[in-house]
Amino acid sequence: MTFSRYTVSIALTIATLGVLGSALAHSGATGIVKERMDMFKRSQKNLKAIKSHIRGEDYGSIAKLADEIREWAVKMPEYFPEGSNIKPSEASPKIWEDFTGFKRAAMENETATKKLIAAAEAGDQTAVVEGFKAVASSCKSCHQSYKLD
Ligand code: HEC
Repeated sequence: MTFSRYTVSIALTIATLGVLGSALAHSGATGIVKERMDMFKRSQKNLKAIKSHIRGEDYGSIAKLADEIREWAVKMPEYFPEGSNIKPSEASPKIWEDFTGFKRAAMENETATKKLIAAAEAGDQTAVVEGFKAVASSCKSCHQSYKLD
């Protein structure tokens, strides 16, 4: 099955509502807080780029960008040492109350990106759209539990 361009467009827009919203400038962040914010911003940029590559059916670029998101998902927990919710960080204290849950949420992000990469490598448009939606929803679901806004 292939989606019509219109269906793809709607699906992608819905998937990214909230996650691709404007990232507020967080001036003043330093150290590990700044490093992780920069990595999240890169993931957001990659996700946006993937969205346009889906429209262009550029699966090679999708796989590459998704792999960068995956790499960050793997490292993410290391960038949240206890006591690092220092202003202007938006990290919720819940991260350290339930670090196992936080790591699981990062792993779900990793799993979703792996599926997206596999779909892109297979050039399977339907699976790419599904994979993209799953990645975006894994971002959102971690934010809902572990990010202040
Ligand atoms: C396991 C949890 C988790 C996952 C998965 C996750 N995030 Fe986040 N994200 C956070 C937390 C926590 C913060 C706040 C970090 C801080 O301010 O110290 C954050 C912050 C951000 C920010 C704001 C950065 C800034 O400059 O303040 C953006 C943008 C963002 N995430 C995008 C994404 C995208 C896109 C994805 C999916 C590809 C994603 N995140 C996946 C937990 C997650």
